[in-house]
Amino acid sequence: MVVLKNRMDYGSLYSLMLSRRSVRKFKNKKVPRELIEKIVAAGITAPSSFNKQPWKFVVLEDPEKKKILREIYADARKKQGLYEQDTSFVEIAVPIILVCESEDKGLLYSCAMAAQNMNLAAISLGLGSLQAIAATTQEEDRERIAELIGEKKGFVMLVLFYGYPDEEPQKKPKKALGEVMEFI
Ligand SMILES: Cc1cc2nc3c(=O)[nH]c(=O)nc-3n(C[C@H](O)[C@H](O)[C@H](O)COP(=O)(O)O)c2cc1C
Repeated sequence: MVVLKNRMDYGSLYSLMLSRRSVRKFKNKKVPRELIEKIVAAGITAPSSFNKQPWKFVVLEDPEKKKILREIYADARKKQGLYEQDTSFVEIAVPIILVCESEDKGLLYSCAMAAQNMNLAAISLGLGSLQAIAATTQEEDRERIAELIGEKKGFVMLVLFYGYPDEEPQKKPKKALGEVMEFI
């Protein structure tokens, strides 16, 4: 039997996963770069298709750029007819633009794996997270973000936000195991 070293027990890992919430209100408190680096370091441990590691993480620190990102996100939500949302978190949190090498499914799945690693790492560091696809659903918005960050080649896949939570969101209802799993 293969015994993995440094194995965390299931209960600890599961309770970390259970405690994750999407946070949309953050404290106006600077997140040290060191913590952001730890989050991305967790991301890049993820498995990836053919070990291509097709990701790039662009951290927005510049307040002007964050302001523009908020406009892009808010406009995108409006265009898509999504529910009204206080988008001020975009300027308060630390946005990380996840750029994937291409739209290839295997590569997108790989990047998504990195994203969830990052979200779990954030909890362990006392931070909250949100990922927002609304800003990158439509090509014109992806182009606006690409221009904002000077990205020429990659696919602007997702925007992730990290910061000190200033709310305790209710746990969202999750489907029961029996509804989504079968042994056949
Ligand atoms: C791929 C993906 C994209 C998402 N995009 C958005 C978004 O654009 N804006 C937003 O407010 N929440 C977004 N969310 C957060 C979801 O609304 C949230 O995960 C869901 O309601 C479940 O809540 P929980 O994360 O607290 O469990 C996204 C989540 C995922 C996984």
